[in-house]
Amino acid sequence: MDIPFNNERAVHEKCAVQIFNDADLACGHVADTIHALIKERNAAGEKTVLGLATGSTPVRLYRELIRRHQEEGLSFKNVITYNLDEYFGLDGDHPESYRRFMQDQLFDHVDILPENTHVPSGTVEREEAFASCQAYEDLIRESGGIDIQILGIGRTGHIGFNEPGSGPESRTRLVTLDSLTLRDAARDFLGKENVPRHAITMGVGTILDARQVFLLAWGEAKSGVIAKAVENQPTDAIPASFLQQHEDCLYCIDEGAASRLTRVRLPWLVGSVRWTAPMIRQAMVWLARRTGKALLKLTDEDYAENGMGELLTEKGPAHKLNIDIFNVTQHTITGWPGGKPNADDSCRPERADPSPKRSLLIAPEPTDDTLSMGGTLQRLVAQGHHVYLNYLTSGNLAVPDPDTRLALDLIIELGQGLEQNEESRHAKKVSDQLEAKGRFGEDTADIRHLKGLIRRGEVRSSARLFGVEADRITFLDLPFYENGRYRRFKTIDADVDKVTAQLQAIQPHQIFTTGMVSDPLSVASIGFQVLLQALARCHGEPWLEDCYIWLFAGSGGEWDTHEIDMAVPLSPNELSEKLQAIYQHQTQRSQSPSLNNNGAKNHWDTAAIINQQTARVYDALGLAEYEAIEGFKRFSL
Ligand code: GLP
Repeated sequence: MDIPFNNERAVHEKCAVQIFNDADLACGHVADTIHALIKERNAAGEKTVLGLATGSTPVRLYRELIRRHQEEGLSFKNVITYNLDEYFGLDGDHPESYRRFMQDQLFDHVDILPENTHVPSGTVEREEAFASCQAYEDLIRESGGIDIQILGIGRTGHIGFNEPGSGPESRTRLVTLDSLTLRDAARDFLGKENVPRHAITMGVGTILDARQVFLLAWGEAKSGVIAKAVENQPTDAIPASFLQQHEDCLYCIDEGAASRLTRVRLPWLVGSVRWTAPMIRQAMVWLARRTGKALLKLTDEDYAENGMGELLTEKGPAHKLNIDIFNVTQHTITGWPGGKPNADDSCRPERADPSPKRSLLIAPEPTDDTLSMGGTLQRLVAQGHHVYLNYLTSGNLAVPDPDTRLALDLIIELGQGLEQNEESRHAKKVSDQLEAKGRFGEDTADIRHLKGLIRRGEVRSSARLFGVEADRITFLDLPFYENGRYRRFKTIDADVDKVTAQLQAIQPHQIFTTGMVSDPLSVASIGFQVLLQALARCHGEPWLEDCYIWLFAGSGGEWDTHEIDMAVPLSPNELSEKLQAIYQHQTQRSQSPSLNNNGAKNHWDTAAIINQQTARVYDALGLAEYEAIEGFKRFSL
């Protein structure tokens, strides 16, 4: 990415932000600072006090610190830690308690003294919570205050559990969680109903007292809140924005999380840019949107008055730029996502030959393909391509218990009165396990297996609507997911082996998969990394030389219009058929909608709204008016 650095960015960004190519580089930078301080303090016989955070964001940092401990002798014997927060009501052994998280992710792997690690207690009596919070503050003070504070950020803009409404003076206290935060935590607790409603958290004021602060964020899902926290005036609507008042705070973020900062989104407003073809397209789509004009109606004045005079001088006049970008955008549109046979394909996103194609869809989780490219999928099948659906993970972690009970009751009832009914005997056993597990318990292997089967059933029923043949559906159930929990997945060789074998068996002409993957611990991102490793193993195989890879945005998002290389239009009928297919995934009905899409109450709505919004943007740019559009980016190895 071409990101200009100059002084003018300070006009927009009200605190220091460093954008790294990826999360590992950012974590390396923060680990360097922590490492240097601990070494210096150890040498002087002094303690280092770290403020630590939980969530998926800091996991890579902790892995790097563990590596340095194991390989470079970094010792934590003189380190004292204070964690930001803890769920109220959970004891430290609960798998989702932040104490457990810290033990698993860091403390158990370094030589830190257990008595030096502090996490607020989630099990104090409510009446004692106030005193316990004050005692936590006193302890921090007695330790000399926090030297380095690590933070993640929630989608509401919270730090720790300081939800909107938390002011800069707030201290450690018992708080109520925001409904969006509850929804975001629902996957960890296997259902929103299991998420504790309250938490103990350090206050914003407590955090601001730390001598140095690093806020980490990865992935596009965080980009909106990062831009607000960094560029807007400090406000308790976005508690992270109060970090602007801190003298030594650095946002260490990856490109995904930075994607909505003005210097990235509209760099020509911030300074000089290199007018590459993608940059021109990005700027012109923005200009058309800003002026409310179609691309072909933009005038020299529009360019000059909106900070794009430089582009005009370099590449103008307006009508030439207009027609060039109009054509580029026009050529992204195709109703033939597998290529149009016997047609001139010089201006089409996909090539005409071979036809039919072997089209492989790789969905990290079972609904990804339907939500993101259900319309395109219908077209591929209707146009005679051999469509293969591959699901990397079973998705069993996202099946609510009540749906599982429904399935079990059905099997048991169906078996009643029948002789030698093994199925219903097994169902009774699993039903007892479900009963025994209670609200906070772990799913047994049997329960997870059944939940995976429920999702398989949903996939088959949606694939049937699309007309995909049953023998072209493969459930890979990759081990990283089967043996893991959200935010803690780790891939192994067997994951890559399985995907490689599929690629070699199918030898696809085109692959569709999700590409919005910068949150490194998301299932989508892990799945993508596994796919890349599998593709690397196939390097040099003839089929791969001729394979186009198309990325859909995934997880309730869409690419920005200027990023789309293939836009597949959907008629009103196609959109409603896509929705019918999405509805087959009944267990997913309470998944939260993505924040950026106003009006959506759940992810079913989100899918339709996103596709309709994309169509509206194409229309507003002066291209054809469609009901809905699914967008894809071409990816090159
Ligand atoms: C929770 C934690 C925060 C964390 C946030 C984001 O709300 N209390 O400290 O920053 O989740 O989590 P993640 O890093 O998984 O996106």
